[in-house]
Amino acid sequence: MYTSRISGLGCYVPENVVTNDDLSKIMDTNDAWIQERTGIKERRHIKKGDGNSTSVMGVKAAKIALERSGLSKDDIDFIIFATLSPDMYFPGGGVIVQDMMDMNTIPALDVRNQCSGFVYAISVADQFIKTGMYKNVLVIGSENHSGGLDMTTRGRGISVIFGDGAGAAILTRSEEEGKGILSTHLHSEGGHAKELSLEGPNTGHWVPEIIAENVQENIPYYPYMNGQFVFKNAVVRFSEVINEGLVANKLTTEDIDMLIPHQANLRISQFVQKKFKLSDDQVYNNIQKYGNTTAASIPIALTEAWENGKIKDGDLVVLAAFGSGFTWGSAIIRW
Ligand code: UT7
Repeated sequence: MYTSRISGLGCYVPENVVTNDDLSKIMDTNDAWIQERTGIKERRHIKKGDGNSTSVMGVKAAKIALERSGLSKDDIDFIIFATLSPDMYFPGGGVIVQDMMDMNTIPALDVRNQCSGFVYAISVADQFIKTGMYKNVLVIGSENHSGGLDMTTRGRGISVIFGDGAGAAILTRSEEEGKGILSTHLHSEGGHAKELSLEGPNTGHWVPEIIAENVQENIPYYPYMNGQFVFKNAVVRFSEVINEGLVANKLTTEDIDMLIPHQANLRISQFVQKKFKLSDDQVYNNIQKYGNTTAASIPIALTEAWENGKIKDGDLVVLAAFGSGFTWGSAIIRW
């Protein structure tokens, strides 16, 4: 029986730091509101001309993960790329990574599961490894949010929250029993699709219509979020899916060494921490520095936690995500 273990981790964020005070110069917001409601102090935004894009950042993170895994690009059998902000409407970022990293004609799959994208992606990778089909899978979560946010007061409920960045993991086949990814648990509830969504452009508002209507007010081309509704669902679903993973492995909350929650809002992470009676050392948060980077948030946090020596051999690491779709999921990993 094969399992998959994480053999390499990497992350990349653009150099350009955007503080809450910077945002308050271009919209009606302030540092106190943002910190109190979200915990965010600053985030990174791609700067025009810095050469970054969703795929470019993904490649930068992937190269670090690959080097740390001790593998070469030719050892990778499959690329899975999670994002809600691809460089192009189609094709997705996976094939661009395949080309930029000069990988052979290996398959590339794009995952469209927003904040749960990375958890979904490692679940897919894990299944391919378990069946014996692939040995090494490159999984990337990357987002360029800043290019598509309404940076005026009208968009402040969303635009202050999101940041750009990328994280990557190499999943490698292992035969060591009881180690690696023990299980993954995925869910969705499409009835709430519109509560956190970006509707346009879409196939119902196709290109001729956009041009004819001159975009502006008619087509919702900035993200929409029903913040309080999403918040209330997030705290419930985070808790449920962490429990589900623990129960499936006959574990309890006391077995958790490190919880890496999707960085949606510090208040959500703190709620979950309290519910599971975890100490500050058992939950990794970096939303203060990067904001919500959607599919990139878990791999960035996981990479940092590992780099800071907060994850050791034998630790039980739990990843948990919730977001647009709604989609949510968890991964239970014995390091
Ligand atoms: O990652 C995917 C999952 N996403 C989430 O889990 C996000 C979940 N939701 C949240 O994190 C929170 O709902 C937000 C951080 C988005 C918003 O916080 P909130 O405490 O729910 O605030 P609110 O939307 O109820 O807004 C409260 C007030 C409003 O003013 P009034 O109507 O009370 O006068 C807003 O207009 O705060 C105002 N407001 C702002 N004020 C200053 C909204 N955004 C801002 C802002 N700066 N950026």
